[in-house]
Amino acid sequence: MNKDCTPHFRKLISHWSRMGLPLRPLSPLPEHLGTLLPRPEAKVLNLGVTPDHYSVGGDLTALDWSAEMIEHVWPGDTDTRRAVQGDWRHMPFDDASFDAVTGDNCLAMLAFPDAVDQVLAEARRVLRPGGAAIFRVFLAAEPADDDATLRAFGLEGCQGSMDALRWRMVMAQSDPEGDANVRVGDGFAQIERLFTRDELAAAHGFTGEDFARLEVYRDSETHFSFPTRTRLEALASTHFSGVKFLPSGTYPLAKSAPYMRLTP
Ligand SMILES: C[S@@+](CC[C@H](N)C(=O)[O-])C[C@H]1O[C@@H](n2cnc3c(N)ncnc32)[C@H](O)[C@@H]1O
Repeated sequence: MNKDCTPHFRKLISHWSRMGLPLRPLSPLPEHLGTLLPRPEAKVLNLGVTPDHYSVGGDLTALDWSAEMIEHVWPGDTDTRRAVQGDWRHMPFDDASFDAVTGDNCLAMLAFPDAVDQVLAEARRVLRPGGAAIFRVFLAAEPADDDATLRAFGLEGCQGSMDALRWRMVMAQSDPEGDANVRVGDGFAQIERLFTRDELAAAHGFTGEDFARLEVYRDSETHFSFPTRTRLEALASTHFSGVKFLPSGTYPLAKSAPYMRLTP
């Protein structure tokens, strides 16, 4: 399903430097992630080029299937930092070759449950004994949000973050007990249905640039997945004996975006 992530992320490349939390894991998240590694100098495999994770661990390999993302978003290779082009579902690495697998919002790029299942199995395969996989995950609300809750989030709860607003509206398309896979364009339609641009501008001072970033979502056929915590925990437990959810901070939408720390 997710080959179409490439055009979606191509459009986002020009907005990348202006994106922040909750979508980009800005400081203090990378430092926090470092404390969750099995050891500070861990050999890390990061799923995605995530420039904010560049200094995590003692040695880091970033795996992304998009040459364009590696060219435009990855800060560049050094002796201890490198990007490799490849698919997370078929990781081009030997068994037991990393101390940690990390990923920021990478599982949402994958169809749930099948592709998420494949990637969790691969993460388990490449981890050494004593290792850990740590993913920041966005989870669907349980039970689903109603319109009043979504409007309250859009006008207050998002605390002026357009990224939090649009991501929450996409997440809300997920069915907690049915299909966890959502079409991004439907999240855009949800915003159009629930809010006027004038009220969003009045509530948060959103500018034309903020609304331009929202346009990336209009009619987008890209799909993301947002399972509930219950469903993701059940799936992760088929590959890992330890499954823990830990808070990731206090930024807008943080309550829906914990770290999931998995141990073999
Ligand atoms: C890690 S995610 C989300 C963004 C993240 N929060 C960040 O700051 O980097 C985005 C990346 O996933 C990559 N991607 C999606 N599915 C993939 C897959 N199956 N294998 C490898 N890369 C994939 C896309 O090319 C894109 O660069």
